[in-house]
Amino acid sequence: MKNKLTLLVVAMAVAIQTFSCKNGKSDTDLAKEEGVESPSLEEQLYRPYYHFTPKVGWMNDPNGMFYYNGYYHLFYQHYPKDNIWGPMHWGHAISTDLVQWKHLPIAMYPDDLGYIFSGSAVVDYDNTSGFGKDGKIPIVAMYTYHDPKKGDAGQLDAQTQAIAYSLDEGNSWTKYEGNPVIDNPGIRDFRDPKVIWDQERGQWVMILAADFEMMIYTSKNLKDWTLADRFGKDVGSHEGVWECPDFFPMQVEGSDDVKWVMLGSISGGAPNGGNGTQYFIGDFDGQKFTMDKNFEEALAKKHDFWVDFGKDNYAGVTWSNIPPQDGRKIFIGWIVDGHYANKVPTTTWRSTQSLPRTVKLISDNGIPRITFQPVKEITNYIGKKSKKDHVSIGVDQETVLSDGDFDFSKAQIQYSIASLKDKGYTFKLSNNKGEELLFGYDGTKNQFFVDRRKSGKVDFHKEFADKVSIGPRLSDKDLHDADILLDKTSIEIFFDNGETSMTEIFFPSAPYSKLSVVSENGDLVLDHLEISQLKFN
Ligand code: FRU
Repeated sequence: MKNKLTLLVVAMAVAIQTFSCKNGKSDTDLAKEEGVESPSLEEQLYRPYYHFTPKVGWMNDPNGMFYYNGYYHLFYQHYPKDNIWGPMHWGHAISTDLVQWKHLPIAMYPDDLGYIFSGSAVVDYDNTSGFGKDGKIPIVAMYTYHDPKKGDAGQLDAQTQAIAYSLDEGNSWTKYEGNPVIDNPGIRDFRDPKVIWDQERGQWVMILAADFEMMIYTSKNLKDWTLADRFGKDVGSHEGVWECPDFFPMQVEGSDDVKWVMLGSISGGAPNGGNGTQYFIGDFDGQKFTMDKNFEEALAKKHDFWVDFGKDNYAGVTWSNIPPQDGRKIFIGWIVDGHYANKVPTTTWRSTQSLPRTVKLISDNGIPRITFQPVKEITNYIGKKSKKDHVSIGVDQETVLSDGDFDFSKAQIQYSIASLKDKGYTFKLSNNKGEELLFGYDGTKNQFFVDRRKSGKVDFHKEFADKVSIGPRLSDKDLHDADILLDKTSIEIFFDNGETSMTEIFFPSAPYSKLSVVSENGDLVLDHLEISQLKFN
C-alpha cells in the first residue's frame, strides 16, 4: 500500500502557493498569464453551455443531491472567495430537467466546528428525525465537519459527522444543536457520509470513507448512528485514500435479482493515474455487505471495475428520492482530476460537473457490472441532425465526416459499427488553429482511448496531457456503439451502451468544427453515424 498524500493535502498546499502569488494582480492579468486574454474571453471559450459550473469561485465534489417537489437539487463543495480550494461551503443549484441549472444562494457556511465537507441529503418523509414542524417535511443533510485547526496541527480527530435540516425544500438550513452526531474514532480521513433509506429493513443506512476502507452505519432517526460493518481493507485499489462513497440497491437488468452497488472514489491509482472511482457489487443484509461471488472472482483476476476510464470523473454520487415511478439511479461526478484542478486555465471560476448519468446494473456473462448513460433529458435539446448509413472508411486515410456544418462545442455524436474484429479507428475533432482531440478504439489491444495531447491549452500542468488515456473494452458484442456528448471543454464518451465510459476535459482556443475518422488494420464501414447540434445559448 503506497502512502500517498491525500488530495486534500495537495489541494491545501497548492491553495496556499496560488494565493500568495495572486496578490496584487487583477483577474485580467491572471487570465493573460493563464493563456486567455480576458475573463470575458474565458467565459466565451471555456464556460460550458450545459454542464454545471459555479458562477464564481471554486467548486469540487457534488454534494447532497435530492429530488423534491419537481426540482432536482444539487449542492457542491464551494469556496466562493477564490478560484482555488479553501474553506468549504455548500453551494446550491436546482433544475427541473438535470440539464439546465439555476444558481441559488450558498446553502451552508463554515462555522466554529469547521469547514463543511462533502455529504448527502435525504427527504425524511416520515419525520423519523423529528425535525419536521407544522406538517413541513424535513430534508436532512449529513456532512463532514473538517476542523482546520486540528487538521493543520496534525491531529487525527479533525473530521466528524454532522447533520442539518431544511423545512423549506433545501433553501435554508439549520444545523443540529447536537452536532457532531458521530465523533471521530481516531481516523484521520473520516468523511463524506452518504445516507439512504433501506426500504426493506425500515432503517437509514449511511456509508462513509475511513482512510483506506468504508464504514457502514445504521440509524432509525438520522441522529443516533451505530457502526454495522467495515469493508474494503484488502479489496480493490488502495493507492490513495478512499473518499466520497455511495451505497444503494439496484435490480439487475432483465432479472428480478437485486444487488447492492458500492461506489468509492480514491485519491490515486486510477486506471490512467490520478483520481478515480472504483466500485464493488454484492449483497447487504441490513448489517453486513458481502461481495457477490462472481464479482469477487472477476475482481481478483483483473481490476476493471471503474466508473470511468477517462482522467476526469471524481467524487461522483447519486441522487436521493428520485420518485419510484421514474425509478432511475442518477449519478453526477466532478469532471477534473484533483492533481490539476487548481490549475485549469479558468480564473473567475473553476471546475465543472458531469452531465447527470443514468446508472444500470447488468449481468455480463454472470459478472455484475454497472453502466452509465447520459440522462434522456439531453435529447430535448437536440436541434439539427445529420444521419449517415454505411459510410466507408479507408485504412490510414482521413475521411471527413463533417466540416463546418456543426459546432462541436455543443453536440452529440453517435455511431455504430457492426463488426470490427481486430480493426481499429480514430476519430478526430479539430479546429482551424491546428488543435485536435482524438478518440477511438485499438482493435489489436481491445482498448478505447482519448488523446488530448494536442487539444489546445495543455501546458498548465505536467499530468494534464502527458499521455493518451486508455479504457478497456469490456463488452464482447460484435456491435460497437458509442454515444458522445461534447461541450466547450469536455467530452463524455459512453462506449458499448455505457459499459466503458471515458470523460476528459480540454481547453481549445477555438471550438472544434471538423470531424474526421481514419481506420487502422483494414477498411471499415460505419454502419450508422448521427451528429446532432445541441441547442444552447
Ligand atoms: C474529495 C474531497 C472529499 C472532501 C472534500 C473536501 O474531493 O477530498 O473527501 O469531503 O473533497 O472539499
